[in-house]
Amino acid sequence: MTVDNSSTPTCSNAEDAVNVHPTKLNSIYDPDGIGLSIVPLSDPTREQLETFTYERMKHCYAAKASLNKDLPLGSIPSGIPAARERSLKVFPQIDDVFSIVDYQGVFQSFLVSMVNAKRILEIGTFMGISAIFHANALKRSGVKGGADETGYKPIVCLEISEQFAEVARSNFVDAGVEEYIEVIVGDANRSLAQLRDVTFDIVFIDADKDSYKSYYDTAIGDGLLNRTGILIVDNTAFQSVVSYMDAPVPVDPEYKPLSFKFDMCKPTEDWGITLHEFNEYIRNDPRTEVVMLPLFTGITLVRFVN
Ligand SMILES: C[S@@+](CC[C@H](N)C(=O)[O-])C[C@H]1O[C@@H](n2cnc3c(N)ncnc32)[C@H](O)[C@@H]1O
Repeated sequence: MTVDNSSTPTCSNAEDAVNVHPTKLNSIYDPDGIGLSIVPLSDPTREQLETFTYERMKHCYAAKASLNKDLPLGSIPSGIPAARERSLKVFPQIDDVFSIVDYQGVFQSFLVSMVNAKRILEIGTFMGISAIFHANALKRSGVKGGADETGYKPIVCLEISEQFAEVARSNFVDAGVEEYIEVIVGDANRSLAQLRDVTFDIVFIDADKDSYKSYYDTAIGDGLLNRTGILIVDNTAFQSVVSYMDAPVPVDPEYKPLSFKFDMCKPTEDWGITLHEFNEYIRNDPRTEVVMLPLFTGITLVRFVN
């Protein structure tokens, strides 16, 4: 199945997101019922497993194999199911399309602990699912809640929508992590200016794609990211991005993107070019080294070259 880009909604901001019609979601995001974007961590039945493609079964297997049953705080924070349920009630059209899935949350929690993170910046908050995972990981490492010497709580989340921020804050209270996370409402491009004197061990970019390059330059160039920290960038391999694989940058408007079968993403032409140019920019940046993981819609990890 190929994608008709003209009818595909972008969800890079709150206004677009709430305009996505619920009945369209399944066909747009999961047209073949592959379900990769909602990799379940609960055990599928034997009957369901028999219908899975290898790709889907591999995702399920890996997700399940990533759950550590004996951790002092669970791999999946206890507040996550309730937070997802509330989000589903408040924004049924977009829940789970915007939020990272549990498996990605488990993976990013691992990174948080790996770099011994104390402070995290999230650009793009939505219902706060990724923030709850990160807060859980900080708790597990013994980081205390409350404002630290910077005047901020350990996790600073940026979100343009007051409505989304409000639901996220309720989710933080219910998940018992409100002392770990604060949300700054406004355009992240502006909010970042007020964080000039703070450094973070993890910066997670997961907001409007047009600003990715600017967010990256601020994190890397303006000292937001600690020298030993990790920058995580989400959605860097949407189908529309991969379509530009052999396109030199800047992408010529006449360039014809490659076509292939639809998998699980929400592409637009704009994001394709924007993100391809972003990917090329960062992989050619001598200040950093990057590795892109082909998980979900693509996750790029960036660190400083020392
Ligand atoms: C993909 S969602 C974030 C999901 C969240 N990281 C998670 O996994 O739980 C992207 C969010 O970025 C927000 N956003 C879009 N443009 C923004 C901007 N310029 N400044 C701040 N937030 C923005 C959207 O409103 C949306 O809530």
